Amino acid sequence: MLEGKVGVIFGLANQHSLAWHITKALAEAGANLAITYQGERFEPKIKKLVANHLKTSPLLLPCNVQNDGEIENVYSEIGQKFGKLDFIVHSIAYALREDLENEFITTSRSGFQTAMEVSVYSLLAVTRPAIPLMKDGGSIVTLTYLGSQRVIPNYNIMGVAKAALESAVRYMAYELGEKNIRVNALSPGPVNTLSARGIKGFTGFLADVRNNAPLKRNIEGSEIGSAALFLCSDLSRGITGDTIFVDAGYHIKGY
Ligand SMILES: NC(=O)c1ccc[n+]([C@@H]2O[C@H](COP(=O)([O-])OP(=O)(O)OC[C@H]3O[C@@H](n4cnc5c(N)ncnc54)[C@H](O)[C@@H]3O)[C@@H](O)[C@H]2O)c1
Repeated sequence: MLEGKVGVIFGLANQHSLAWHITKALAEAGANLAITYQGERFEPKIKKLVANHLKTSPLLLPCNVQNDGEIENVYSEIGQKFGKLDFIVHSIAYALREDLENEFITTSRSGFQTAMEVSVYSLLAVTRPAIPLMKDGGSIVTLTYLGSQRVIPNYNIMGVAKAALESAVRYMAYELGEKNIRVNALSPGPVNTLSARGIKGFTGFLADVRNNAPLKRNIEGSEIGSAALFLCSDLSRGITGDTIFVDAGYHIKGY
């Protein structure tokens, strides 16, 4: 489905990352991939993961999204190797641990800024330099969560950041539409990952979905991979500015 397409994935940390489930789905669909990771610390694990599980050899690049030079380097390498880009997967979020444990009202100025910069501004920062490479249009996919719209205990500043992220998706979709670049978000239900475990009470979220979602189960990583494949492919060519839930239907319930 993605033969001949080139994409970059931001936010792979380990085999539990949503970015890894997405990587597998996109690689199996035939895409040529570049994969970025936050810094040297992640490199050995990611090299091993990719070598053991992918049939192709993606371009592996470090990229801390708080560093414009590293973002530029990613696109310079992609330009040299592939000469174009068709999609971006942005699977990055961060908030200070104390801001996911204490009362929301106590969020510090710097904690607020950090969460917004890494989790929201980074979507703009990784998209802007990619536009010249998206010569035939493109698809940009980010990851959000229901905590943007509803209060999820302890999600706190991340909920505010996800609300801003979903708004950014709409503004970007509006501006980039005439270049045939689509921008959408996936909103998965809870999945046990490194970031998710940083939220106090996370296992309770998992249990609540199992008990209350229409499908009466948690979602699997592969289901997020499939939804990302849909959004990165031409099958979704009429969809932009939207948030698609992959949460076993949990978000539709009022009671
Ligand atoms: N796991 C869930 O339950 C869940 C549910 C809904 C949405 N999401 C979203 O999915 C996305 C991926 O999270 P995940 O659950 O796979 O966890 P994860 O910890 O595997 O991925 C988060 C990634 O963000 C990266 N990151 C953080 N700061 C960065 C920086 N400054 N520069 C570059 N990369 C940075 C980390 O290195 C990591 O790879 C996030 O946006 C998260 O909010 C997760």
